[in-house]
Amino acid sequence: MQKNITVLSGDGIGPEIVREAIKVLDAVCARFHHTFRYTYVDIGGCSIDKYGVPITEEGMQQCKSADSVLLGAVGGPKWDNCPPAIRPEKALLAVRKELGLFANLRPTRLFPQLASASPLKESIVGDGIDLLIVRELTGGVYFGERRTGEENGDIVAHDDMNYSTREIRRIGRVAFETARKRRGRLASVDKANVLDTSRLWRRVMHELAQEYPDVIYSDILVDNTAMQLIKNPTQFDVLVTENMFGDILSDEASMLTGSIGMMPSASLSEGTLGMYEPIHGSAPDIAGQNLANPIGTILSAAMMLRYSFSLTEEADLIESAVNRALDLGYRTGDIFQPGCTKVGCSEMGDCITACLARI
Ligand code: IPM
Ligand code: MG
Repeated sequence: MQKNITVLSGDGIGPEIVREAIKVLDAVCARFHHTFRYTYVDIGGCSIDKYGVPITEEGMQQCKSADSVLLGAVGGPKWDNCPPAIRPEKALLAVRKELGLFANLRPTRLFPQLASASPLKESIVGDGIDLLIVRELTGGVYFGERRTGEENGDIVAHDDMNYSTREIRRIGRVAFETARKRRGRLASVDKANVLDTSRLWRRVMHELAQEYPDVIYSDILVDNTAMQLIKNPTQFDVLVTENMFGDILSDEASMLTGSIGMMPSASLSEGTLGMYEPIHGSAPDIAGQNLANPIGTILSAAMMLRYSFSLTEEADLIESAVNRALDLGYRTGDIFQPGCTKVGCSEMGDCITACLARI
């Protein structure tokens, strides 16, 4: 199989973690005789520094014409005071929108070896965590109109949040279909006791639920979800929610896995084009020091093989290799426990690559 992958390493720890994911992808290629061609495109702060914009028009075209996109992370304090129109994050949102990546899958899995690395008690996470957050990614308050201006002698800021039935239905379908292939339970997260967008969300989800009688469906308010994720996380299978709730809840859920550095994501379109990225940020405080955890990015690469290329065996192999490296006791600083072997970002990539070759 031959595939063209556009690589957006980005800022901070982005280039380090992406390098390790590509190491692992190359090992997969060697073993299964695939050819992946990588085209590197600047995104975020590094692109602002070079071109004055967080992604160039050619860069965007390169993403659109690829078979899939692999992303590290964007942003950092250096660009915090850029005008909103050219902030690093703006490029990420633009890529999501222009590529039509409306469905963001954020699997939250605790490898049993890391049960004591989670800040939560083992009595809460010990039985194993395996839930999936389906986050709507191209609508809601992230993409509504924004403005700040003077009104009646004061300064007022507006961020419009809107959702159409069409947008809700298409993410709902992804969630129901995914739940069907997992443990058959879907919780839809909203704030229907306050927001109109949530009331519409709930109405459309209820209509869909009629079409999926085999899926056990429930509604849950977002504030309660935040609590239940800590109190009793094993009750969840698939959670579906709007853009900003999904952003917030997925950072919270990442702690169930031991570290935010463990959590991958896939952003999917109606077709096979997808973008794959860890859910964490650019971690400028540890950038360039070989301290980052590349596992979230490596697991994102596995999702790329699974969802964009339908290479199930290869994706399973990457996940097994990560599991094996953890079995052998290799840990980056964020998931380190006494008795384990502390390794840097590149060594973790090497360990996983070596494990992959031996399975
Ligand atoms: C994420 C990130 C982004 C988001 C930021 C960097 C714009 O937090 O992917 O979760 O809010 O979507
Ligand atoms: Mg986030």
